[in-house]
Amino acid sequence: MIYRKYVEVVEDRCTNCKFCELVCKCYSPNLCTGCLACFWACPYEARRVKEEYVEPRFIEIWVDKVKYRVPANLTVSKALEHIGFKFEPLGSKGISLPCKTGGCWSCALLIDGVFERSCITPIRNGMEIITNIKGIVPRRIVHGPEPHLVGGKGTPWWEVNYREYVEAAIWVAGCNLRCPQCQNYHVTYDNVSKALTPKEAAEEIVRCHLIFNTKGVAISGGEPTLNRRWLKLFFEYLNKSLKPKVRRHLDSNGTLLSSDYIDELVESGCNDFGVEPKCVNVKTYMKITGLSSEDEARRYLENSWKAVEYIYDKYREKVFLGVGLIYNDDLVSLREIEKAGDKIRSIDPNIQVTVLDYFPSFRRRYLVRPTVERMLEVKKVLESCGLKCVIVQTRSGHIGPKGVKRG
Ligand code: FES
Repeated sequence: MIYRKYVEVVEDRCTNCKFCELVCKCYSPNLCTGCLACFWACPYEARRVKEEYVEPRFIEIWVDKVKYRVPANLTVSKALEHIGFKFEPLGSKGISLPCKTGGCWSCALLIDGVFERSCITPIRNGMEIITNIKGIVPRRIVHGPEPHLVGGKGTPWWEVNYREYVEAAIWVAGCNLRCPQCQNYHVTYDNVSKALTPKEAAEEIVRCHLIFNTKGVAISGGEPTLNRRWLKLFFEYLNKSLKPKVRRHLDSNGTLLSSDYIDELVESGCNDFGVEPKCVNVKTYMKITGLSSEDEARRYLENSWKAVEYIYDKYREKVFLGVGLIYNDDLVSLREIEKAGDKIRSIDPNIQVTVLDYFPSFRRRYLVRPTVERMLEVKKVLESCGLKCVIVQTRSGHIGPKGVKRG
């Protein structure tokens, strides 16, 4: 007998919204492989994970020209793990499994001669898998480009005037977090749109930048840092195609930004980092991000703050740095905002800080969006910590230093 997980529909929760057909579709509709993509992506939580022991049925697959006997009804990644293949740690240059929902393409291998995602592709008898992907151009699902009036936490406040487009932006699919109030879940969980090469994505965004005469270009998500090979090449293409003074902005949750990854991105041409640790307490971070492992949440939260410190210490003369926090009464207290403010002030009170007011979205449609007055309180708390450049996102637009309201 072997143990397996599978997913079933919770009929009384399903609203027939079609998200599981149009945005995050099943690549094994006749027999669940337990990839869990639909479980993570369903906006109405109308999927339940079940477990069972079954009599195994075996099939044969070829991995790097060697034949293996593996249980049927697995994804390629699970079959590989079954035979002892080790995926690389998240944020490394190798093949890894950060999103597991089909958006980031970090797990892609040559499967029956086609570059394809191992996390959602089911195995079949006789399948041929090649794990050496050197020389194959990486891909990733990309939304946009679109011109943006506001930008993100890494967009210098003084460039935003709400009249001219400040950045040309793209958003990439796949995330290593599972935020129940994901503010961009249609992108994050997309596993059906065409995946672009870094060059294709760079060409698109450069075109948008030229049409709208933006001061910068930006990549957000989802989480852009998941597919390192792709991101490095993307910035290299941007670097070659844009004038040096154009900002090349990475908007990231910071969880995978190790010092060597940051060095690599700066060398590749990234000159603007927006890093979002979101909060300071691990329990709060778990609530915001949907992570159930306290160890993992602690590691991610620490990494994100370390990334802020590293970028500031090593690159403050050559890259712009903005830090992101989040606020909603249900998720973060003003006391914690103050702690975050103290932490940032201890690095440098002049660092730009942007606080996003989390609104009802995805699985937390019950959230109440903070009032403008409440966000001004948040701003005041941070300014009382000594921070000089605090911007709060509100339902009436962004409010920045000296109370100037844009929008
Ligand atoms: S881990 Fe497979 S697409 Fe992201």
